[in-house]
Formats: sequence, C-alpha cells, structure tokens
Amino acid sequence: MEIRKIRLGGLLLSSNVLMAPLAGYTCYPFRMLAYELGAGLCFTEMVSANALKYEDRATKRLLLTTEKEQIKAVQLLGGIPAVMEEMAKSELLKDADIIDINMGCPVPNVFKSGEGSALMLDQKRAAAIIRGCKKSGKIVTVKCRTGVREDKMFAAEFARMCEDAGADMITIHGRSRSMMYDGVPYYSEIEQAKAAVSIPVIANGGIFSAEDARRMMERTGADGVMIARYGLENPFIFGELTKKVCEKSAYQLLSEQLLLTSSLYQETFTLLYMRKLAAYMMKKRKGTKRYKQRLYQSGSMEELQKVLWLIFGQDNESAYQPGKEVR
Ligand SMILES: Cc1cc2nc3c(=O)[nH]c(=O)nc-3n(C[C@H](O)[C@H](O)[C@H](O)COP(=O)(O)O)c2cc1C
Repeated sequence: MEIRKIRLGGLLLSSNVLMAPLAGYTCYPFRMLAYELGAGLCFTEMVSANALKYEDRATKRLLLTTEKEQIKAVQLLGGIPAVMEEMAKSELLKDADIIDINMGCPVPNVFKSGEGSALMLDQKRAAAIIRGCKKSGKIVTVKCRTGVREDKMFAAEFARMCEDAGADMITIHGRSRSMMYDGVPYYSEIEQAKAAVSIPVIANGGIFSAEDARRMMERTGADGVMIARYGLENPFIFGELTKKVCEKSAYQLLSEQLLLTSSLYQETFTLLYMRKLAAYMMKKRKGTKRYKQRLYQSGSMEELQKVLWLIFGQDNESAYQPGKEVR
C-alpha cells in the first residue's frame, strides 16, 4: 500500500498505518511498541467519560503516558455532550493532543446507555458531542461503524455529519454493529464515506495481512488503514507496511515490554497484560502450543520472562540466561 504522512491540524502523523484502540491491550507500553515499529498513530483504549468525571482510579490509569509518547491520543466513550465536553477540557486530559470519540462500540451495556455505536442512531447528540469536545482546542477524531444494522448502513451520511460538526478525521470500521467483529467489511460503505468528505478517512476492519491492507486501500480509496487485532498478533506488520526498519526480535521486544510495563504498573497488571499480549503473538508460532498453559500460569516476572524465552527466544530451557537478550 502507498505510505504517506497525514496532517491533522498542527500534527503530522509519520504514516497512514494506525493502531486501533483495543480495550485491555493498548496501554502505554503497547503504544510505544507500535510507534517504534512504524504506526503513525496509536490510541488509548476507550476511557469512560462518566468514570473519569468521578475520578475512578482504574479509569484514570488508562490515561498513563510520558513525554516519550510522540503523539497522545485518548479515546473517550460517552453519550452526554456536557460530560464529554467537560472531560475533554479537563486537567486529566491536558497531555492529550487528540481526542477520539468512540461511536462504534457494540457491547450491549454500552449501547443501552446511549454510548458507542448507539450514537450512530442519534446524530444530533453525536454532533453535539463532537462540537463540545472541539471546544477543548484539541484535534477531535471519530471512530464509528458503517451503521447499526447490516440492512441499513449509512457511513457516508454519518461521515458528513462528523465533518460538519468539526471532526478532523474519521475512522470507519467497515462492519455494522450487528456484525460485531466478524464478516467481510463493507468496502463500498467506506468508499462512499471517503467520497463524501474532505477530512482524512481511515479504513478499519478485517486487516490480517499486508495484502489485506493493500486491498482495503484499493477498494475504499481511504487515506490510511487502522490495524486492530492483527497488530497484537503481529506488531511487525507496521514495519512491513511502512518499511520502517527494526532489527529487534520478538523476544527482545517482549522483554522490553515486560521491563517497561513493570516499571510503570503493578505486578498484577503487568502479568495479565504481558500474558495476553504474548498469547496473541504466539498464535502463528509453530510448536509453541505446549507452553500456553505455562504462560497463563506464570505468576512472577521471572517465570514469565523464562516462558517468553521458550516461546519467542530459543526452545531450550538450559540455554536460558536471565537478563540476557537474544537477537
Ligand atoms: C478486544 C477488543 C477490544 C476493543 N476495544 C476497543 C476500544 O476500546 N475502542 C474502540 O474504538 N474499538 C475497540 N475495539 C474494536 C477495534 O478497534 C476494531 O475496530 C475491530 O477489532 C475491527 O478491526 P479488526 O477486524 O482489524 O480487528 C476492540 C476490539 C477488540 C477485539
């Protein structure tokens, strides 16, 4: 696919290959990894504006970042324009360069509360949320789907509303809410949305190889792609697409993730996150299935580091030297 930079207000994204927000995964360490490998933009996972308003500790932790993160994009989830505006302008989000508004989450609880993909059915409220968030002076982007029902999709109309309300970019997951996370994305819906607006349109959904990314760009004419689950399975996809060189091995990258995560988060979080990430990354690695249980049972950093070595380094326990990296 053709790699280009994307301008968003005063920001220049280094590539048009974006990493999706993924709840439970796109914490600060993972975003740093994706940026290092070539992602042009990464997002926090969805952060509930209501929970932030009540200063919920676990929710505030989702905002963790440092000055090393090149561009800081926070995804907000919420359905009340006044709360979204208040949070967008709040001290808690002072470090954020970009606020992305979640208008695609299909989960029943979220939908029933009038948040996420439910906003696609209430365009007036969706527009009020965008306008409110824009008052923060930050760049505001929207992530949505092609519609709520598969037999009634309206991505172009929705994209136009977003642009009119002041959105700086829109990402379209090419599936309706009813499709959840399965099925071939509707390329034509994204194509029509791209033709309807002049802000950048990013295409998301079902990209599980470089070839899929190329096809997505070709069929939709989008300005870029957003990789989601495949970014966890094979984070090297960012370098494959952008040609950014990284000579580190999967083991080295995971060892660095472990170090970075444990330096910033508590051990329980670190173990949970690292096990989940490693489980995704080992999916296509032959002969590693037998370590899966050991991975899930690893209850200390030392144990986890050793299992990572067995899966991603050398499948040889006696060659393991704690603290020694492999290339
Ligand atoms: C485990 C998981 C967590 C997700 N969390 C979020 C989220 O926090 N915010 C969001 O906008 N989308 C979220 N998504 C949706 C993805 O960003 C993406 O739109 C979707 O997975 C489709 O892309 P894919 O087919 O390439 O995976 C999540 C998806 C999964 C599987």
